[in-house]
Amino acid sequence: MENCFTTIFNQRKRKPILFALAIAVLYAVYYFKLNSTIPTTLNIQATKTIASQIPNLSKYVNIIDLHEDTKENFTCIETKYLLHIVKTTICLHDTRDAVSNDIKKKKIWEERLITEVISFLIKYPHMDFIDVGANVGSYTMFAASFGRRVISIECFKPNINRIRKAVQIENVQDKVVLVGNAIYSESGKTFKMNSDPFNVGAQAIIEKDTGEYSNDDMYAVTTIRFDEILPILQDKDIRNAVMKVDIQWAEIFLCETGKKVFDYVNIPVVLMEWDAVPHAKARMGVVLKFFIERGYVATKDMCTNLNTTDAFNSWPGDIFWVNMNRSQIC
Ligand SMILES: *[C@@H]1O[C@H](CO)[C@@H](O)[C@H](O)[C@H]1NC(C)=O
Ligand SMILES: *[C@@H]1O[C@H](CO)[C@@H](O)[C@H](O)[C@H]1NC(C)=O
Ligand SMILES: *[C@@H]1O[C@H](CO)[C@@H](O)[C@H](O)[C@H]1NC(C)=O
Ligand SMILES: *[C@@H]1O[C@H](CO)[C@@H](O)[C@H](O)[C@H]1NC(C)=O
Repeated sequence: MENCFTTIFNQRKRKPILFALAIAVLYAVYYFKLNSTIPTTLNIQATKTIASQIPNLSKYVNIIDLHEDTKENFTCIETKYLLHIVKTTICLHDTRDAVSNDIKKKKIWEERLITEVISFLIKYPHMDFIDVGANVGSYTMFAASFGRRVISIECFKPNINRIRKAVQIENVQDKVVLVGNAIYSESGKTFKMNSDPFNVGAQAIIEKDTGEYSNDDMYAVTTIRFDEILPILQDKDIRNAVMKVDIQWAEIFLCETGKKVFDYVNIPVVLMEWDAVPHAKARMGVVLKFFIERGYVATKDMCTNLNTTDAFNSWPGDIFWVNMNRSQIC
């Protein structure tokens, strides 16, 4: 899915001080420019959450009011049809965002993967959808427009605003529960996200508690443990679902805090961004172990198995964990 390239300046110079200074100045200018180009006030609509009637729901779970008016003027596009059966609406960021640009041009995002998901949903009419790290909601919107119930989790407010707008345009408010939180090992922490207007989908949470929450800070997020969505699943009686996970190396928290969800819901297919860069190897190792222990097999396309020994060198960037009798899907 969206890749995040980290530039590492690795300099071993005799006189590093001047060099370091120059780099620091360059960085400062770069970040100042980056941040100064973001329309900070315009971009935040304090996303209203609803006091939920759901029994036992933790106070930290932000269920977004999908009936709230969207004040901002987004560019929303009608997608192309997939499998001649379903199209939807996606609301975009400005043209700096690579993903939004791509969607604007192609009228679709990750066509092969979304098509595979829809194909699976066609075969299994009782399957709902759980979208963890929804970004602008491409998967959420296709699943909802296809008539499935969707639990969509997204922590970045400008993304939440866009998903809500798309939900309203498609009139699928009754299909979608939009949860405005980040998944973490502890509940109720306030974190910031890093800013990347050129690839909003590559933004990740910075795991350092700021201790304060401001609804006007578009980069502030509140954490929940994954199991905290269980009351929503119980309330809606969601017992079968396909899952998509794209949360920038926070998958480990989904595994460590989500056992009850995996026990309660039959989740035969999990589409996951597999970005096993060196600095995330330990974390992705935990994710690997979690899925294998639960009986999942890693595949390229739900059917072609991937060899676990290659997980950190030759697996593709997106994989499907599958936990079902494949003679029924392949
Ligand atoms: C809510 O939680 C309490 C305590 O864990 C439990 O006894 C009760 O059954 C739960 N209610 C629902 C509706 O899940
Ligand atoms: C919204 O955006 C469209 C397209 O960019 C523009 O034509 C229109 O005037 C804008 N409306 C408002 C209220 O800003
Ligand atoms: C996986 O790869 C290892 C090392 O290349 C090899 O020994 C093993 O046979 C492979 N397993 C399968 C199931 O292909
Ligand atoms: C898998 O499904 C096929 C076809 O429905 C069936 O014949 C086979 O027994 C199943 N295998 C297992 C292990 O359940």
